[in-house]
Formats: sequence, C-alpha cells, structure tokens
Amino acid sequence: MKKILTLAAIVLAIGGCSGQQADSQATPVNIKSLAGDSAVTDIRPADAMPVYPSRGKALDRSFTDQPPLIPHKDDYKITMDKNGCLTCHSWDKAPRMKATPVAKSHVIDDKGTLNGHNYFCTQCHVAQAENKAPLVENKFSNQ
Ligand code: HEC
Ligand code: HEC
Repeated sequence: MKKILTLAAIVLAIGGCSGQQADSQATPVNIKSLAGDSAVTDIRPADAMPVYPSRGKALDRSFTDQPPLIPHKDDYKITMDKNGCLTCHSWDKAPRMKATPVAKSHVIDDKGTLNGHNYFCTQCHVAQAENKAPLVENKFSNQ
C-alpha cells in the first residue's frame, strides 16, 4: 500500500513538473495596452473634450419641427426602468430643474404622461457641441 502511495506521489510530482515545463515553452501572450506602446511612466495629453453650449440655453432651430438640439451632454442613461432625461424634462420636474418640459406632442394626456413613441429621446434629439476631435463628414444644409 505504502509503495502504491509513493508511486502515486512520484507520478503526481512528475506530472506537475512537466506541466510547468510546458508553460515556460508556451508562446508569450501579447498584451497590448489601450494606451499603445507608451511606457507606463509616459504622460500623454488628455483627449480633446467636447465643449457644450452653456447650460440653461436653448439653441436656435434651423427648420420648422426640428427636434431641438441638446445643448448639454447626452449620455444620460435611458433604460427600461429609468429615463435619465426625464429627471429634468418631465412635466412635473422641468420647472424645478429650469429645463423645458417635453413637447406637448410627446405626451398623451394633460398630466404629461409620455407617449411610448417618444421614450428614446436620443433617437431624435442630438447633442450639439464644439468638438475638438475630428468628426465624420457631414454635408447637411438647411437651404
Ligand atoms: C440635469 C438636468 C437635465 C437632464 C438630465 C437633461 N437635460 Fe436637457 N436640458 C436641461 C436644461 C437646463 C436645458 C436648457 C433649457 C432648455 O432649453 O430646456 C436643456 C435643454 C434641452 C433641450 C433643448 C430644448 C429647446 O427647446 O431647445 C433638449 C432637446 C434636451 N435638453 C434634451 C435632453 C435629452 C434628450 C436628455 C437626455 C439624454 C436631457 N435633455 C437630459 C437640463 C437637463
Ligand atoms: C420621434 C422623435 C422624438 C423623440 C423620440 C423625442 N422627441 Fe423631443 N421633440 C421632437 C420634435 C420633432 C420636437 C419639436 C416639435 C415639437 O415641439 O413637437 C421636439 C421638441 C422637444 C422639446 C422642446 C419642447 C418645446 O416646448 O420647445 C423638448 C424639451 C424635447 N423635445 C425633449 C424630449 C425628451 C426629453 C425626449 C425623451 C423623453 C424626447 N424629446 C423624445 C422629436 C422627438
């Protein structure tokens, strides 16, 4: 019995060793940092940030029935349970937040209950910002 146990231990030990050997021969994993090839100690300038028009100011509309441009950042979360835009633009909260309540065309009653068709605000409204980073080409003209 003792012999069998010893044998088993040796087999295990050899197994362990060969496992380690295989590891050391494996091709090195190529991990590339998101920061590129720069050394950890390198300091690179921050990415250019978009500048939004000052808060509290609506932007001129370019054509009738244009969904007004968003004069602030637009990454408020819109999920099944919560619509981040409505924390300021719903009819009951807008006056306190000094924001324009969602348009009459967006609601289905006189209490300001939102029409489901208008739930995904950013489907129609886009943010307007002075972007320092290059954007995609756009030949839009309101003429
Ligand atoms: C923290 C409060 C707040 C949140 C959250 C918020 N807004 Fe605003 N929003 C404002 C304020 C203040 C203004 C400027 C006053 C105005 O014109 O309504 C504004 C302006 C706007 C306008 C321009 C209205 C006009 O008549 O020109 C649109 C469109 C708009 N927001 C859409 C959105 C959308 C879409 C979201 C979600 C992605 C959102 N807002 C989230 C506060 C907010
Ligand atoms: C299907 C497109 C669409 C969606 C979705 C939509 N809007 Fe609009 N929105 C418009 C259009 C078009 C107008 C301008 C015409 C009008 O007032 O109906 C407008 C107008 C507005 C205005 C200006 C109201 C005023 O009295 O000047 C605000 C604020 C606004 N939307 C906020 C929102 C918010 C917040 C959401 C999401 C909860 C949203 N919208 C979803 C198309 C949309």
